Amino acid sequence: MMDGTVPSSLESRTRMTKKRTLTGYRPTGKLHIGHWFGNLQNMLTMQHDYDAYYFIADWHALTTHWADPSHVRESTEEMVLDWCAAGLDPEICTIYRQSDVPEVAELTLYFSMVTPKPWLERVPSYKEQREQVTDKDLGNLGFFLYPLMQAADITIVLADAVPVGEDQLPHLELTREIVRRFNNTYGEYLVEPQAIIAKEGARVPGTDGRKMSKSYGNSIYISDSPDEMRAKVMSFVTDPQRKLKTDPGDPDICPLHAVHKLFAPAEEIAEWDRCCRSADCGCVAHKRKLADDLIAYFAPFQARRAELAADPEFAWKVLAGGAAKARPITHGVVSACRELVGIDPRSALTADVEPRDPNARSQESAPSFAEDE
Ligand code: TRP
Repeated sequence: MMDGTVPSSLESRTRMTKKRTLTGYRPTGKLHIGHWFGNLQNMLTMQHDYDAYYFIADWHALTTHWADPSHVRESTEEMVLDWCAAGLDPEICTIYRQSDVPEVAELTLYFSMVTPKPWLERVPSYKEQREQVTDKDLGNLGFFLYPLMQAADITIVLADAVPVGEDQLPHLELTREIVRRFNNTYGEYLVEPQAIIAKEGARVPGTDGRKMSKSYGNSIYISDSPDEMRAKVMSFVTDPQRKLKTDPGDPDICPLHAVHKLFAPAEEIAEWDRCCRSADCGCVAHKRKLADDLIAYFAPFQARRAELAADPEFAWKVLAGGAAKARPITHGVVSACRELVGIDPRSALTADVEPRDPNARSQESAPSFAEDE
């Protein structure tokens, strides 16, 4: 509405007293312990404190994997299993798949009207990936629009808070800019989201000491078998200055300590810290203990995951239920936006359309073009 007023039946008026949170993961691989100790712990607590929306960004996966989408479906299913076994409860939060909420695509389109092209060209992840990724063609428009679609993901439920990794901050900033521009143009309606960064675990080191990341091949996955976990822990780099067991080490730069600290009791960490500095214990002993602790820590999660996976329909039922919860909201938001951008609501799309007689379908879907000519 160009006069600055907003439609009265706005979804924001009917929101519950809790603030809303949303975050999404691309279904491009398994979750590793960096995800677990970083964003996922935030998601677990936030499901209780917020009205929480957690979705699987399968369209975002297609922006980079469009030429070979063969793993998207399987990874989507795995992600739901990982999330639910970790403790996300589909009764408490809303777990859905991006492509089940097509309103996101419509909002992306409206955002494409108000977003100047240079805003997208400036996004650091876009520039970096165009330069660094050589095994995929990222010259497609979909990849260019990645941050725009992310802005729509967040805004489609009018999210207040978005738990993400540090690398996503520029995308959140861009979302805020797009929201401001939309609101300045059409009327104050959309919500500017805040990013929430996990303090602990924001940078979990991988086995080579760099940030844990699937693309570096340095990850310990939360669904790795005990043997895989042990082998990976034993391959961790440690303080490079500590060549002999008799050399004192520096726990502050040792990835073993950084990972162990995430879940072991403080007294135990203090003891490993002391004996590393004084060369009273060796790195191999520490690795063995870390492997034992990590395996024990993830055992209940893995048992729960196996239980859930026994039902091959589990993930799809969760996603169907989540879409049913999300869509009344996303439909409300997109309808309001449609009106705000100047589209008259009196159209076939919003009118009460009688359900069609399924038997009449075959005739309807075979129109004769000859008559029109
Ligand atoms: N860009 C995110 C990533 O690569 C995934 C994502 C898509 C997302 N849409 C989102 C995260 C909305 C938070 C909110 O990890």
